[in-house]
Amino acid sequence: MRNTLKYITILLLSLFSISSCKKSSTKQNNSLIHKTTGQKVEIENKIDSLLHIMTIEEKVGQMNQYSDFWDVTGPAPKNGSAEIKYTHIKKGLVGAMLNVKGVEHVRAFQKIAVEDTRLGIPLLFGFDVIHGFKTLSPIPLAEASSWDLDAIQKSARVAATEASSAGINWTFAPMVDITRDARWGRVMEGAGEDPFLASKIATARIKGFQGDNLKATNTIAACAKHFAAYGFVEAGKEYNTVDIGASTLHNIVLPPFEAAVQADVKTFMNSFNELNGIPVTGNSYLQREILKGKWNFQGFVVSDWASIRELINWGHAKDSKEASKIAVNAGSDMDMEGYAYVEELAKLVKNGDVKESIIDDAVRRILRVKFELGLFDNPYKYCDIKNEKNTLYNPKHQEAVLYIAKKSIVLLKNENNILPLKKEGQKIALIGALAADKNSPLGSWRIASDDNTAVSVLEGMQKYDGNTLNYQKGVDLIIGQASFVNEVVINQNDKSKFPEAIKAAKESDIVVMVLGEHGFQSGEGRSRTSLGLPGLQQELLEAIFKVNKNIVLVLNNGRPLAIEWATKNIPAIVEAWQLGSQSGNAIAEVLYGDYNPSGKLPMSFPRNVGQLPLYYNYKNTGRPSNDGDNVFWSHYSDSKNTPLFPFGFGLSYTKFKYSNFKINGSKFKLNETIELSIDVTNTGNFDGKEVVQLYIRDLVGSITRPVKELKGFELIAIKKGETKTVNFVLNKNLLGFYNNDGDFITEVGDFKVYIGSNSVDTIEKEIELIN
Ligand code: NOJ
Repeated sequence: MRNTLKYITILLLSLFSISSCKKSSTKQNNSLIHKTTGQKVEIENKIDSLLHIMTIEEKVGQMNQYSDFWDVTGPAPKNGSAEIKYTHIKKGLVGAMLNVKGVEHVRAFQKIAVEDTRLGIPLLFGFDVIHGFKTLSPIPLAEASSWDLDAIQKSARVAATEASSAGINWTFAPMVDITRDARWGRVMEGAGEDPFLASKIATARIKGFQGDNLKATNTIAACAKHFAAYGFVEAGKEYNTVDIGASTLHNIVLPPFEAAVQADVKTFMNSFNELNGIPVTGNSYLQREILKGKWNFQGFVVSDWASIRELINWGHAKDSKEASKIAVNAGSDMDMEGYAYVEELAKLVKNGDVKESIIDDAVRRILRVKFELGLFDNPYKYCDIKNEKNTLYNPKHQEAVLYIAKKSIVLLKNENNILPLKKEGQKIALIGALAADKNSPLGSWRIASDDNTAVSVLEGMQKYDGNTLNYQKGVDLIIGQASFVNEVVINQNDKSKFPEAIKAAKESDIVVMVLGEHGFQSGEGRSRTSLGLPGLQQELLEAIFKVNKNIVLVLNNGRPLAIEWATKNIPAIVEAWQLGSQSGNAIAEVLYGDYNPSGKLPMSFPRNVGQLPLYYNYKNTGRPSNDGDNVFWSHYSDSKNTPLFPFGFGLSYTKFKYSNFKINGSKFKLNETIELSIDVTNTGNFDGKEVVQLYIRDLVGSITRPVKELKGFELIAIKKGETKTVNFVLNKNLLGFYNNDGDFITEVGDFKVYIGSNSVDTIEKEIELIN
């Protein structure tokens, strides 16, 4: 019986493909659009026939995702949830897996789904391919510092190539959450604080993962997460409440998600937070009205890990039955490792508590992605062991991640041109807990990669052998081993390595100090209340400074740090984040001037934690400055309002001069295009790259507008002595905003337009928009 039915399924599906093949052969001369439409219709027809023969349990099964549980080379599991999961796959009650590592395991799971279940529907295999699989690129916040969309797309391509070779067909990336609070651990996973930049980066990463053809064996479905507003967790505390107004939601939080839909992202993930009292996993406004309604998203929404069941903890559902009902009605299509849907949904439908049409819609979305990936044509298309061996850690990928790693470095300070370092005749002391570390640069999201596989700064610098290099650790940052799941333990007492480091510094011409956060201090579940250098590193830095002031501070960190003392005292500071597999090589090339840094901060650096949340696109307030000598203006009594380093900031070894800012008029009608240009001259001694940035300010709005908003940027290479003209355009789409009903409007009136090298150092002009 089982085989007969499966035969019927296959027959039905192949009949459709045969008939559509015929159709497509008679339409050979039709445009690509017609072909695409034809393919879409064909997929929808196939889904119709499948839905027609699926039981309610099988439908709900497609909406169920389990994490890996079983050593597939061994016998079937006999313990607790592993056994349940195994039985569920065999019964066709599972639509997707996550965290399955390697082709052998993927193939074994897929075989059960395809060969042992009644309908043989293939599984999706999801994985957190966040900044690489085995070979790791810089953490996403670092990559965002490159402002280089092409390089970011290439980096995602490498990640997809490796992941797909290991059987993965779906990544849980990109994270497109806007964040303004560096206390939140997951700032490392996003593109920073600005919706315009983040939207462009989201698009680049989705293109990189998904490529042009999802049916290829090296492209995978992407996932825009976490929908929505997770980056606004109160006080930067993980998994916390989010309470934001309509203006912030529509203008700041949602644009990168909308950009993801426009980039044809195949899936969305919701999140752990609530938004204004409703946990987003159960939020119909976000998922049904906006995502699937207004934006017409055709893919599916996966919950975050057990976030459907967490509706109970939030106090939004009384049990898993109610949680399932709320979540499915709100548009959560797949339950990740929550056991809620698989236990409750079929019963809810049978009792008439949930409409079967809701289930059909969710299943249709999930099957659609499976068809688009070509899994029905070949469920094992990602399962080629030879390809896996040749692809993982391929030397070409090392080159590719080195390319993006160099671009991700931001030069924050370079007094008296202490950098680049001379290549010969120098005595250099290399000091710091992270200087020889091969693990921390991999960050915390590297669940497929192998520990201690990064090139350390020590190894990178050793390749330059014209100087003498004296490495001293100076201090331990952590005690014991750090891991993905446990809290990192910071060394607060042991200063026993200080004296050797101080001695080395005394005897050297230059000191390079590699300090910051361990890779496992940022990421999920890793919020912090202090943003200084953790542990004893600040004390070590000051002790070294007493004996040698020629310090180059290389920062390794997953979030902006509050380093006011260092900024005031240390002559050179290089923001090197966590740069992945090629970290040390990238840093050494920058320190020695073989690569001239061009990165710009995608997030403001605060002076202190008390300034948070801190962002460049703030509102002016009614009292923006102090007229006279009183306290009655919007400020702190004990700190400046300004950041330590503003959004968009980053130096180069050369200098750029901006001049000749031109606009093709001063009054423009709403439908006119505004053309702007500026000359940028490299006046320094090195060839270099500059990110030229365009900002606007809408001076009067029916809803108050930020003091600056990024509306364009261009990364250009300029040789020394050369001048380049950079052109931008503005139009009503770039000059408008969302009102509190979520409608996009552009209002006439005066605007300021700024062009410059960061969000503060700009040249400005005014224009007027008229009817
Ligand atoms: C929880 C995280 O929030 C999410 O981003 C991730 O994709 C899932 N776990 C799966 O690992």
